[in-house]
Order: sequence, then structure tokens, then C-alpha cells
Amino acid sequence: MEPEKKFIAKIILLGDASVGKTSLLNKYIKNEFSLNYKTTIGADFLTKTLTRENSIVNLQIWDTAGSEKFHSIGTGFYRGCEACVLVFDLTNPDSFKNVEEWRKIFIKYANPAEEDKFPFALFCNKNDMANDIKVTEEEIKVYCLGHNNMPYFYVSAKEGDGIDDGFNKVCDIVYKRMLEKEDVILPDIKPIRIQPIPEQKKGCPC
Ligand code: GTP
Ligand code: MG
Repeated sequence: MEPEKKFIAKIILLGDASVGKTSLLNKYIKNEFSLNYKTTIGADFLTKTLTRENSIVNLQIWDTAGSEKFHSIGTGFYRGCEACVLVFDLTNPDSFKNVEEWRKIFIKYANPAEEDKFPFALFCNKNDMANDIKVTEEEIKVYCLGHNNMPYFYVSAKEGDGIDDGFNKVCDIVYKRMLEKEDVILPDIKPIRIQPIPEQKKGCPC
């Protein structure tokens, strides 16, 4: 059966250098992981197709550079996003503190219509490094509750844990929002019946 609707949803990953944005994306889309670190320059995307009800949602997931050197290149890609995934490294408390900076930078450059309703999700990465975790769940909860109850996910690009759950939730949220937007843009338009023009009476003076 043909899907009823097809949506393309642009999603962006933001966070400090080395938190694992590229690794998460590669694990999610290609099921690949490497311990070699090659910093991202600029931005690039990979796609994943998911289905929701009888619709197809094509997630276009953008990976950006966390390094300050490349910030100016990345900000141009923020516009038109349906959701933003903020990423930090559980073993690096500074990367957690900087999540809020990334959220603000995103809002500034993406300039979404309804700022307080814009969907963010938090991916707490490197959860496999159990002995080195330095950010507590309490801190994460407090941050998320204070920011529109942002959903958070413990993930590991190395092991693959939590990544599907995280992106599935993001997909649920953007799908719902896109349906709502569609209702606003395309209201239920009733067909207009065109009445036949009555024949003019003979001898009409006009
Ligand atoms: P930039 O492109 O510079 O912004 O960094 P990034 O956020 O894309 O980080 P990247 O994915 O390149 O990962 C940085 C380093 O962390 C690499 O050496 C990865 O192998 C490692 N890494 C990423 N995710 C995980 C993880 O879940 N567990 C562990 N143990 N290492 C990880
Ligand atoms: Mg990268």
C-alpha cells in the first residue's frame, strides 16, 4: 500500500567537540564505530527513513562541528530544523555545562517561530564508560525539567545503546508537529461548486 504522506524532517546534532556527535550518527545510520577521533569541519548529513502511522518520515540528520574554530561555518545550517539534539559527554562536565550555550546559539541562529515550543532532546553520550561518569542523573533531570521537560537519553555510540530510542522519540515529536503544521497550512478545503450561468432571457435590455 502506498504511504499516505511523506515528510522530510531536518534534525541537527549540536554539542562540544569530541562529545561523539559524528560517532552517534555513524552508529545510528551505518552501524559503525571507531575510536579514532577525526574532528568534523563544517556540516554534513545522513538520512534515515522511519514510518509513523501510514506516513514516511525521512530524517535528514545534520552533524556539525563542535570546535569553536568552525562555529561560523555551522550556524548557517541551523535554519529550517524541525528538532535539535544536544549532545554531551557524561565523562566531561564542561561539555554538560555548555549544552545550555549550544541551546542558546541554536535559538539565535535558527530563529524558530515559537521559541519556547521548539523541540530539543538531550543525548548523554559515552554511557559505556561507567567508571568515568562525572555528570549525575539528578543534574541532568534538573536541567531538562527547567527546559520544557526536554527528553533525555543515556546513549553510547560505542555500544549502540539508547540511540534508537532517542531518535524514535525525536521522530515522534517532529511527526506530530509536522501534522499539526500541515493542518494549519492546508485546512480542509471544501470543493467550490461553480453554478452554471443562467441563460439570458430573450429581449433583455442589458
Ligand atoms: P567534533 O566533530 O570535533 O565536534 O567531535 P564529535 O562530537 O563529532 O566527536 P566524535 O564522534 O568524533 O568522537 C570523539 C571521540 O570520542 C572519538 O575518539 C570517538 O571514538 C569517541 N567516542 C564517541 N562516542 C563514544 C562513546 O559512546 N563511547 C566511547 N567510549 N567513546 C566514544
Ligand atoms: Mg564530528
